[in-house]
Amino acid sequence: MSLKILGIESSCDDTSASVLCDTKLHSNVINTQQIHEKYGGVVPELASRAHQQNIILVVKEALSLANTKLSEIDAIAFTLGPGLLGSLMVGASFAKGLSVSTGIPLVGVNHLHGHVLAHMLREKDEDAFVAKFPYLCLLVSGGHTQIVLVKDYLSYEILGKTIDDAAGEAFDKCAKVMGLGYPGGPVIDRLAQIGNKDRFSFNKPRIDGLDFSFSGFKTSFLYSLRDNLKQNSAFVEQNINDLAASLQKTIIEILLDKLVKAVKLTGITQIAISGGVSANSGLRKELSDLAFAQNWNLHLPKIKYTTDNAAMIALVGHFMYLCGKISDPDVVPQARLDFLNINVL
Ligand code: KG4
Ligand code: ZN
Repeated sequence: MSLKILGIESSCDDTSASVLCDTKLHSNVINTQQIHEKYGGVVPELASRAHQQNIILVVKEALSLANTKLSEIDAIAFTLGPGLLGSLMVGASFAKGLSVSTGIPLVGVNHLHGHVLAHMLREKDEDAFVAKFPYLCLLVSGGHTQIVLVKDYLSYEILGKTIDDAAGEAFDKCAKVMGLGYPGGPVIDRLAQIGNKDRFSFNKPRIDGLDFSFSGFKTSFLYSLRDNLKQNSAFVEQNINDLAASLQKTIIEILLDKLVKAVKLTGITQIAISGGVSANSGLRKELSDLAFAQNWNLHLPKIKYTTDNAAMIALVGHFMYLCGKISDPDVVPQARLDFLNINVL
């Protein structure tokens, strides 16, 4: 008999629901909140409010697209954390209400576990389910930058992480000072396509081990902009493509330098990438070239599964349910959920 999981994700500004049957997706609905654009970043109170408005519609649509009745669902997997507490509360409360009223078991999922398995998501029977352990996952999102050693579906070790900003934050902050919209990553990606990436250079960190840092780069970018703007007030507009390409190149180099180091240290050549920044076309291209040159086996998630989505939550929920990791009804979301804490039940 097949296992059907309803996934619910609401950790930040995407309200999403998905139906997963065994390891195959039957639906994945994402409502990305537009309200934050004009504020240049996610406004937590507005995010919770928008989740409240969206959640019923999104879940209904996910069930309907999957042609699935609630009575056919075996478990409800929802994002327990980390994330914005008010946003998490909406998804968690909805999932708990649904569970209490139907008797369907609940599975509280760590959002980051979802990201590291995202490249395994598949929609068609003919797409092979690829899971090769152990692998190294470069997890690059708006809130996290980590190299994770994934030993099994639910067994992880963090080899390195950022000591200050995340890679997505670096993209977003640089975009903000140049007057570009939020989120800045996709805008920079687009502008960089016709820019000269070698035109400007910015500082890269010198940090031992596998940890990352983006604050030095960010400061050097800001100072360079400030100095150039003193000479020419139209500096940003006149050089926007080269600025985007050069800053993107620096962020990519910072990420890939550490990934190369991690491969050398562990000898593991199965490589995956995940999180919103893994949608970046420059990063995907450089990483693909590197993997080819180094003979690594690269697992890229589809673009639609790089940013936040309920499909990845349902996939982790699938494996947790199979291991009997069912949440108690009094489980509460946690804004700062530890990556390694699987037993949050
Ligand atoms: O994984 P995600 O949707 O949310 C978090 O869990 O943080 O990641 C959002 C981040 C934002 O910082 C956004 O600017 C970045 O991913 N991002 C990108 C691209 N698409 C999204 N960064 C660079 N290039 C992109 N194409
Ligand atoms: Zn995320």
